[in-house]
Amino acid sequence: MKDFTDKVAIVTGAGSGIGRALGEALLRSGAVVVLADINTDRIKDIIASSVLQDRLTACVLDVADFDQVKKVVDETISRHGRLDYIFNNAGIVVGAEARDCSINDWRDVVNVNLMGVINGVAAAYPVMVAQGFGHIVNTASIEGLVPFPGTCSYVASKFGVVGLSGALRIEGRDLGVKVTAVCPGHIDTRIFYDSKMIKFDREKVIERLPKSLSMTPERCAAEILKGVMKNKRLIVVTAAAKWLWWMQRFFPGVVQWMMQKNLAKSRVDMRLEEG
Ligand SMILES: NC(=O)c1ccc[n+]([C@@H]2O[C@H](COP(=O)([O-])OP(=O)(O)OC[C@H]3O[C@@H](n4cnc5c(N)ncnc54)[C@H](O)[C@@H]3O)[C@@H](O)[C@H]2O)c1
Repeated sequence: MKDFTDKVAIVTGAGSGIGRALGEALLRSGAVVVLADINTDRIKDIIASSVLQDRLTACVLDVADFDQVKKVVDETISRHGRLDYIFNNAGIVVGAEARDCSINDWRDVVNVNLMGVINGVAAAYPVMVAQGFGHIVNTASIEGLVPFPGTCSYVASKFGVVGLSGALRIEGRDLGVKVTAVCPGHIDTRIFYDSKMIKFDREKVIERLPKSLSMTPERCAAEILKGVMKNKRLIVVTAAAKWLWWMQRFFPGVVQWMMQKNLAKSRVDMRLEEG
Protein backbone atom coordinates (compact mmCIF):
# COMPACT_ATOMS: atom_id res chain seq x y z
CA MET A 1 0.00 0.00 0.00
CA LYS A 2 2.43 2.63 -1.18
CA ASP A 3 -0.25 5.26 -1.79
CA PHE A 4 -0.01 6.49 1.81
CA THR A 5 3.71 7.30 1.72
CA ASP A 6 4.32 10.65 3.45
CA LYS A 7 0.59 11.32 3.74
CA VAL A 8 -0.44 12.94 7.03
CA ALA A 9 -3.32 11.19 8.81
CA ILE A 10 -5.18 11.57 12.11
CA VAL A 11 -6.98 8.51 13.52
CA THR A 12 -9.36 8.85 16.49
CA GLY A 13 -10.23 5.95 18.74
CA ALA A 14 -6.80 4.61 17.80
CA GLY A 15 -6.11 2.90 21.13
CA SER A 16 -7.95 -0.30 20.29
CA GLY A 17 -9.65 -2.40 17.63
CA ILE A 18 -10.27 -0.93 14.19
CA GLY A 19 -8.61 2.42 14.97
CA ARG A 20 -5.44 0.79 16.24
CA ALA A 21 -5.28 -1.51 13.22
CA LEU A 22 -5.86 1.46 10.90
CA GLY A 23 -3.04 3.39 12.58
CA GLU A 24 -0.63 0.46 12.30
CA ALA A 25 -1.53 -0.18 8.65
CA LEU A 26 -1.09 3.50 7.79
CA LEU A 27 2.30 3.57 9.53
CA ARG A 28 3.42 0.43 7.71
CA SER A 29 2.36 1.96 4.40
CA GLY A 30 4.54 5.02 4.96
CA ALA A 31 2.14 7.60 6.38
CA VAL A 32 2.87 10.14 9.11
CA VAL A 33 0.21 9.33 11.70
CA VAL A 34 -1.37 11.05 14.70
CA LEU A 35 -3.10 8.46 16.87
CA ALA A 36 -5.62 9.83 19.36
CA ASP A 37 -7.70 8.12 22.02
CA ILE A 38 -9.48 9.02 25.26
CA ASN A 39 -7.78 6.13 27.07
CA THR A 40 -4.42 7.27 28.46
CA ASP A 41 -3.09 3.73 29.10
CA ARG A 42 -3.76 2.73 25.50
CA ILE A 43 -1.95 5.83 24.25
CA LYS A 44 1.03 5.01 26.51
CA ASP A 45 1.01 1.46 25.16
CA ILE A 46 1.04 2.67 21.55
CA ILE A 47 4.00 4.93 22.29
CA ALA A 48 5.84 2.12 24.07
CA SER A 49 5.19 -0.56 21.46
CA SER A 50 5.56 1.19 18.11
CA VAL A 51 8.74 0.64 16.15
CA LEU A 52 7.92 3.53 13.84
CA GLN A 53 8.35 6.36 16.36
CA ASP A 54 9.68 8.86 13.83
CA ARG A 55 6.38 8.97 11.92
CA LEU A 56 4.06 8.60 14.93
CA THR A 57 2.49 11.06 17.36
CA ALA A 58 0.08 9.72 19.96
CA CYS A 59 -2.15 11.88 22.13
CA VAL A 60 -5.02 11.72 24.58
CA LEU A 61 -8.18 13.18 23.06
CA ASP A 62 -11.89 13.16 23.79
CA VAL A 63 -13.66 13.45 20.42
CA ALA A 64 -16.76 14.80 22.16
CA ASP A 65 -14.83 17.99 22.99
CA PHE A 66 -14.52 20.22 19.90
CA ASP A 67 -11.71 22.36 21.37
CA GLN A 68 -9.56 19.26 21.92
CA VAL A 69 -10.21 17.98 18.40
CA LYS A 70 -9.43 21.37 16.85
CA LYS A 71 -6.20 21.58 18.87
CA VAL A 72 -5.01 18.19 17.52
CA VAL A 73 -5.92 19.19 13.93
CA ASP A 74 -4.19 22.59 14.27
CA GLU A 75 -1.07 21.07 15.87
CA THR A 76 -0.87 18.46 13.11
CA ILE A 77 -1.01 21.16 10.42
CA SER A 78 1.58 23.35 12.11
CA ARG A 79 3.89 20.37 12.61
CA HIS A 80 3.53 18.70 9.21
CA GLY A 81 2.21 21.53 7.03
CA ARG A 82 -0.82 19.58 5.74
CA LEU A 83 -3.56 17.13 6.61
CA ASP A 84 -4.36 14.43 4.05
CA TYR A 85 -6.69 12.19 6.05
CA ILE A 86 -8.80 12.25 9.17
CA PHE A 87 -10.32 8.94 10.25
CA ASN A 88 -13.18 9.86 12.62
CA ASN A 89 -13.33 6.39 14.10
CA ALA A 90 -13.87 6.65 17.90
CA GLY A 91 -17.11 5.07 19.02
CA ILE A 92 -19.00 3.54 21.94
CA VAL A 93 -22.14 1.42 22.36
CA VAL A 94 -24.79 1.30 25.02
CA GLY A 95 -26.49 -2.08 24.75
CA ALA A 96 -30.02 -1.54 26.02
CA GLU A 97 -33.61 -1.29 24.98
CA ALA A 98 -34.75 2.32 24.66
CA ARG A 99 -37.16 1.86 27.60
CA ASP A 100 -34.16 1.31 29.90
CA CYS A 101 -31.99 4.24 28.72
CA SER A 102 -31.70 7.51 30.61
CA ILE A 103 -31.27 10.74 28.68
CA ASN A 104 -27.59 10.61 29.66
CA ASP A 105 -27.18 7.20 28.01
CA TRP A 106 -28.56 8.66 24.76
CA ARG A 107 -26.36 11.75 25.11
CA ASP A 108 -23.18 9.74 25.79
CA VAL A 109 -23.56 7.73 22.59
CA VAL A 110 -24.58 10.67 20.40
CA ASN A 111 -21.83 12.89 21.85
CA VAL A 112 -19.08 10.41 20.98
CA ASN A 113 -20.37 8.72 17.83
CA LEU A 114 -22.12 11.59 16.06
CA MET A 115 -20.80 14.78 17.69
CA GLY A 116 -17.32 13.20 17.68
CA VAL A 117 -17.52 12.86 13.90
CA ILE A 118 -19.05 16.34 13.55
CA ASN A 119 -16.22 17.77 15.67
CA GLY A 120 -13.67 16.08 13.41
CA VAL A 121 -15.43 17.44 10.33
CA ALA A 122 -15.80 20.96 11.76
CA ALA A 123 -12.10 21.04 12.66
CA ALA A 124 -10.62 19.38 9.55
CA TYR A 125 -12.96 20.19 6.64
CA PRO A 126 -12.28 23.98 6.45
CA VAL A 127 -8.54 23.23 6.55
CA MET A 128 -8.90 20.69 3.74
CA VAL A 129 -11.03 23.09 1.67
CA ALA A 130 -8.34 25.76 2.09
CA GLN A 131 -5.67 23.23 1.03
CA GLY A 132 -7.78 22.10 -1.91
CA PHE A 133 -7.32 18.44 -0.95
CA GLY A 134 -8.03 15.96 1.83
CA HIS A 135 -10.09 12.90 2.65
CA ILE A 136 -12.47 12.51 5.60
CA VAL A 137 -13.24 8.90 6.55
CA ASN A 138 -16.08 8.49 9.04
CA THR A 139 -16.68 5.17 10.78
CA ALA A 140 -20.40 4.44 10.96
CA SER A 141 -21.63 0.83 11.09
CA ILE A 142 -23.99 -1.59 9.37
CA GLU A 143 -26.29 -0.15 12.08
CA GLY A 144 -26.08 3.12 10.14
CA LEU A 145 -27.81 1.39 7.21
CA VAL A 146 -30.06 -1.13 8.95
CA PRO A 147 -31.94 -0.38 12.20
CA PHE A 148 -31.09 -2.92 14.93
CA PRO A 149 -33.19 -3.10 18.12
CA GLY A 150 -31.35 -3.06 21.47
CA THR A 151 -29.01 -0.23 20.41
CA CYS A 152 -31.37 2.62 19.43
CA SER A 153 -28.96 5.39 20.46
CA TYR A 154 -26.14 3.75 18.49
CA VAL A 155 -28.40 3.35 15.44
CA ALA A 156 -29.43 7.02 15.68
CA SER A 157 -25.79 8.13 15.86
CA LYS A 158 -24.61 5.90 13.01
CA PHE A 159 -27.50 6.79 10.64
CA GLY A 160 -26.45 10.39 11.35
CA VAL A 161 -22.85 9.63 10.39
CA VAL A 162 -23.92 7.98 7.11
CA GLY A 163 -26.22 10.89 6.22
CA LEU A 164 -23.68 13.56 7.12
CA SER A 165 -20.95 11.79 5.13
CA GLY A 166 -23.14 11.48 2.01
CA ALA A 167 -24.14 15.15 2.05
CA LEU A 168 -20.60 16.36 2.79
CA ARG A 169 -19.22 14.22 -0.03
CA ILE A 170 -21.38 16.16 -2.49
CA GLU A 171 -20.36 19.55 -1.01
CA GLY A 172 -16.68 18.63 -0.92
CA ARG A 173 -16.38 17.18 -4.41
CA ASP A 174 -15.70 20.37 -6.36
CA LEU A 175 -13.59 21.74 -3.49
CA GLY A 176 -11.13 18.85 -3.62
CA VAL A 177 -12.26 17.11 -0.42
CA LYS A 178 -13.28 13.45 -0.49
CA VAL A 179 -15.63 11.91 2.06
CA THR A 180 -16.23 8.23 2.81
CA ALA A 181 -18.48 6.46 5.31
CA VAL A 182 -17.38 3.06 6.64
CA CYS A 183 -20.03 0.54 7.68
CA PRO A 184 -18.57 -2.58 9.27
CA GLY A 185 -20.53 -5.60 10.37
CA HIS A 186 -19.22 -7.55 13.34
CA ILE A 187 -15.49 -6.97 13.92
CA ASP A 188 -13.69 -8.82 16.68
CA THR A 189 -12.72 -5.93 19.02
CA ARG A 190 -13.11 -4.91 22.66
CA ILE A 191 -16.19 -2.78 22.03
CA PHE A 192 -18.72 -5.31 23.35
CA TYR A 193 -16.56 -6.05 26.42
CA ASP A 194 -16.10 -2.35 27.30
CA SER A 195 -19.57 -1.06 26.46
CA LYS A 196 -22.26 -0.21 28.97
CA MET A 197 -25.12 -2.72 29.02
CA ILE A 198 -28.41 -2.17 30.77
CA LYS A 199 -30.54 -5.17 31.68
CA PHE A 200 -28.59 -7.25 29.12
CA ASP A 201 -26.47 -10.17 30.29
CA ARG A 202 -23.05 -9.25 28.85
CA GLU A 203 -21.77 -12.84 28.79
CA LYS A 204 -24.80 -13.98 26.81
CA VAL A 205 -24.58 -11.00 24.44
CA ILE A 206 -20.93 -11.86 23.75
CA GLU A 207 -21.76 -15.56 23.43
CA ARG A 208 -24.38 -14.77 20.78
CA LEU A 209 -22.20 -12.49 18.65
CA PRO A 210 -21.97 -13.82 15.08
CA LYS A 211 -18.29 -14.81 15.47
CA SER A 212 -18.22 -17.08 12.42
CA LEU A 213 -19.33 -14.07 10.33
CA SER A 214 -16.90 -11.67 11.97
CA MET A 215 -13.53 -10.26 10.85
CA THR A 216 -10.31 -9.27 12.59
CA PRO A 217 -9.66 -5.52 13.02
CA GLU A 218 -6.53 -5.90 10.88
CA ARG A 219 -8.49 -7.30 7.92
CA CYS A 220 -11.15 -4.66 8.45
CA ALA A 221 -8.50 -1.90 8.38
CA ALA A 222 -7.08 -3.32 5.15
CA GLU A 223 -10.56 -3.31 3.55
CA ILE A 224 -11.10 0.26 4.71
CA LEU A 225 -7.80 1.51 3.29
CA LYS A 226 -8.45 -0.32 0.01
CA GLY A 227 -11.82 1.43 -0.27
CA VAL A 228 -10.32 4.79 0.73
CA MET A 229 -7.72 4.51 -2.03
CA LYS A 230 -10.58 3.95 -4.50
CA ASN A 231 -12.43 6.94 -3.00
CA LYS A 232 -15.53 4.86 -2.30
CA ARG A 233 -18.65 6.64 -1.03
CA LEU A 234 -19.50 3.77 1.29
CA ILE A 235 -17.30 0.92 2.49
CA VAL A 236 -19.37 -1.96 3.84
CA VAL A 237 -17.13 -4.50 5.59
CA THR A 238 -17.89 -8.24 6.10
CA ALA A 239 -19.93 -10.44 3.81
CA ALA A 240 -22.75 -10.64 6.36
CA ALA A 241 -23.05 -6.85 6.52
CA LYS A 242 -23.14 -6.64 2.71
CA TRP A 243 -25.90 -9.27 2.60
CA LEU A 244 -27.93 -7.52 5.32
CA TRP A 245 -27.64 -4.14 3.59
CA TRP A 246 -28.79 -5.73 0.31
CA MET A 247 -31.76 -7.31 2.10
CA GLN A 248 -32.61 -3.96 3.73
CA ARG A 249 -32.71 -2.23 0.34
CA PHE A 250 -34.80 -4.85 -1.46
CA PHE A 251 -36.72 -6.63 1.32
CA PRO A 252 -36.97 -4.23 4.29
CA GLY A 253 -40.07 -6.01 5.59
CA VAL A 254 -38.16 -9.30 5.81
CA VAL A 255 -35.32 -7.61 7.72
CA GLN A 256 -37.80 -6.07 10.15
CA TRP A 257 -39.40 -9.48 10.68
CA MET A 258 -35.94 -11.05 11.32
CA MET A 259 -35.04 -8.28 13.79
CA GLN A 260 -38.40 -8.69 15.57
CA LYS A 261 -37.81 -12.46 15.95
CA ASN A 262 -34.28 -11.83 17.19
CA LEU A 263 -35.48 -9.27 19.74
CA ALA A 264 -38.15 -11.65 21.04
CA LYS A 265 -35.48 -14.35 21.49
CA SER A 266 -33.03 -12.01 23.23
CA ARG A 267 -35.77 -10.81 25.61
CA VAL A 268 -36.06 -14.43 26.75
CA ASP A 269 -32.33 -15.39 26.59
CA MET A 270 -30.41 -12.26 27.52
CA ARG A 271 -32.61 -9.91 29.52
CA LEU A 272 -31.60 -9.89 33.17
CA GLU A 273 -35.01 -8.98 34.53
CA GLU A 274 -38.32 -7.78 33.18
CA GLY A 275 -38.83 -4.09 33.93
N1 LIG B 1 -16.41 -3.83 16.44
C1 LIG B 1 -17.49 -3.84 15.67
O1 LIG B 1 -18.13 -4.89 15.50
C2 LIG B 1 -17.94 -2.58 14.98
C3 LIG B 1 -18.94 -2.69 14.00
C4 LIG B 1 -19.37 -1.56 13.35
C5 LIG B 1 -18.83 -0.33 13.64
N2 LIG B 1 -17.87 -0.23 14.60
C6 LIG B 1 -17.35 1.11 14.89
O2 LIG B 1 -15.96 1.10 14.70
C7 LIG B 1 -15.38 2.12 15.53
C8 LIG B 1 -14.24 1.50 16.32
O3 LIG B 1 -14.78 0.52 17.17
P1 LIG B 1 -13.97 -0.76 17.69
O4 LIG B 1 -14.82 -1.93 17.48
O5 LIG B 1 -12.60 -0.73 17.17
O6 LIG B 1 -14.02 -0.46 19.27
P2 LIG B 1 -12.90 -0.48 20.41
O7 LIG B 1 -13.65 -0.33 21.68
O8 LIG B 1 -11.99 -1.63 20.25
O9 LIG B 1 -12.09 0.87 20.10
C9 LIG B 1 -12.69 2.12 20.22
C10 LIG B 1 -11.68 3.10 20.79
O10 LIG B 1 -12.32 4.39 20.87
C11 LIG B 1 -11.88 5.01 22.07
N3 LIG B 1 -12.85 6.03 22.48
C12 LIG B 1 -14.06 5.85 23.08
N4 LIG B 1 -14.62 7.04 23.35
C13 LIG B 1 -13.75 7.99 22.90
C14 LIG B 1 -13.75 9.40 22.92
N5 LIG B 1 -14.76 10.08 23.47
N6 LIG B 1 -12.71 10.06 22.37
C15 LIG B 1 -11.66 9.38 21.83
N7 LIG B 1 -11.58 8.03 21.82
C16 LIG B 1 -12.62 7.34 22.34
C17 LIG B 1 -11.79 3.87 23.07
O11 LIG B 1 -10.95 4.21 24.17
C18 LIG B 1 -11.22 2.74 22.21
O12 LIG B 1 -9.81 2.68 22.30
C19 LIG B 1 -16.51 2.66 16.39
O13 LIG B 1 -17.00 3.87 15.81
C20 LIG B 1 -17.56 1.58 16.30
O14 LIG B 1 -18.84 2.09 16.51
C21 LIG B 1 -17.40 -1.33 15.28
